[in-house]
Amino acid sequence: MNIIKLDAIPSTNDFLKEKLSRQYLENFTVVVAENQTGGKGQMGSIWEVQSGKNLTFSVLVRDLLLDIQSVFHLNVAVAVSIAEALKLFSIPDLAIKWPNDILAENRKIGGILIENILKSDGEIFSIVGIGLNVNQVEFTDLPKAGSLFSITGKVFDKEAVLTSVLEKLKLNLALLQSGNHEQFWKIYDAMLFRKGVPVSFEDTSGLRFMGIIQGVNCNGKLEVLLENDLITEYGIKEVILLY
Ligand code: BTN
Repeated sequence: MNIIKLDAIPSTNDFLKEKLSRQYLENFTVVVAENQTGGKGQMGSIWEVQSGKNLTFSVLVRDLLLDIQSVFHLNVAVAVSIAEALKLFSIPDLAIKWPNDILAENRKIGGILIENILKSDGEIFSIVGIGLNVNQVEFTDLPKAGSLFSITGKVFDKEAVLTSVLEKLKLNLALLQSGNHEQFWKIYDAMLFRKGVPVSFEDTSGLRFMGIIQGVNCNGKLEVLLENDLITEYGIKEVILLY
């Protein structure tokens, strides 16, 4: 495994993308930064964390025979890998909030940002960016965020957590590559936050409504049973789950 460790950079995803544009990088090249000055989150948000306390890293996934239609399989396998790794550290009440937030005791402790690059020869490179809050104590202005420390009261060895996540990821991506995505979907579905219970949503116009999450389809869309008894699917930017 080729691991590049850096002190402070704007974003491990951008670093890996830029490096890849200049040189050949082997599958599973990992870039880890102690601090990110311009960390990127889902939907153009900022991923801001306390320097040195957490894990911010990106993994290059290439040679994975996925077509652009099935890239959500990768999201699923990555989210499940993180959750499986955290289970080994006895983190309580782990859940995956659609599309790929990692929660413990209803607090977001990890996020995933996958950027796919389609090359002219059809190969898809995926930059799998992972932010995992490990030892951060406080989350000012982020009441729904947490860390392994804030949940358990214990300080964790960041290196051990990183190794564990990377090992799970490597194993699971090999399984995914051999066409084995169903097992990840099963775990993802079983860990899906607020599945089967009435929850509130907000759409892009700010309209709030109630619904019951049925699951996530293979395109990554959330299937929700609405009050009119119809099941409607929502894309990632179309709706927010309020909790
Ligand atoms: C989210 O909004 O939940 C996704 C957060 C992803 C953050 C990680 S930290 C490492 C990698 N580099 C980035 O700039 N973002 C991702």
